[in-house]
Amino acid sequence: MAVTIKSAREIELMKDAGKILGEVHNRLAEQIVPGMSTKDIDVIGDKLIRSYQCIPSFLHYNGYPASICVSVNEEVVHGIPKKSRILQDGDIVSLDAGVIYKGYHSDAARTVAVGTITPETEKLIEVTRQSFFEGIKMAVAGNHLYDISNAIDAYVSTFGYGIVRELVGHGIGTHLHEDPQIPNFAQKRRGLRLEAGMTLAVEPMINMGRADVEFLDDDWTVVAADGLPSAHYENTILITEGEPVILSLV
Ligand code: MF3
Ligand code: CO
Repeated sequence: MAVTIKSAREIELMKDAGKILGEVHNRLAEQIVPGMSTKDIDVIGDKLIRSYQCIPSFLHYNGYPASICVSVNEEVVHGIPKKSRILQDGDIVSLDAGVIYKGYHSDAARTVAVGTITPETEKLIEVTRQSFFEGIKMAVAGNHLYDISNAIDAYVSTFGYGIVRELVGHGIGTHLHEDPQIPNFAQKRRGLRLEAGMTLAVEPMINMGRADVEFLDDDWTVVAADGLPSAHYENTILITEGEPVILSLV
């Protein structure tokens, strides 16, 4: 699928979708407490999304069975919510959510602390978040796509963390996943030229230890092979002639 340039009308709808998703994330994060199940998070998130007249885009996507991907500790992404998985004080939980508003998608993820976490884990979450901001400093019309990838890699590598390679960011619009793919690790080529009106989901997934991942038998959950914690931070952004607009952060 080709990379699409959104019209002014489409950009307005993507701004609306992003604002809603940003609010969903803020309201979801403040409800995360020890003792709740990952299924509880999905139920709350699904209701929140629908309360804004949006459709949760992940539900039934390629057969995925929930509205929110809930990934605990060493789980990187695509954790499936379960009644039996109870969050404990000191856990971290990555919440990935997507909404469709009037036919337009927004996609965003946050890693949240459950109760009190160690300084090491706090740092992993903060570096992952900051790596997104380092990456999107380069997300300006006239620059090239892999300027984003290279900036994320250069920043994260100074901390010795593992950058997940099997999963990448992506274009987004009338579909959840559009071209181009956006790696979070350094590339040899420049990639395509960024143009105003492109909308992209930039989403570093960073492991405290090694970069290697494995898939669990549920065929969805991606875990760090060494069992150490992993964090995820994602927003849907709009490329402009100047600074990018972060659509899904409010
Ligand atoms: N948020 C994921 C992404 O960025 C998509 C999850 S799709 C699901 O690509 F099916 F796992 F929900
Ligand atoms: Co995404």
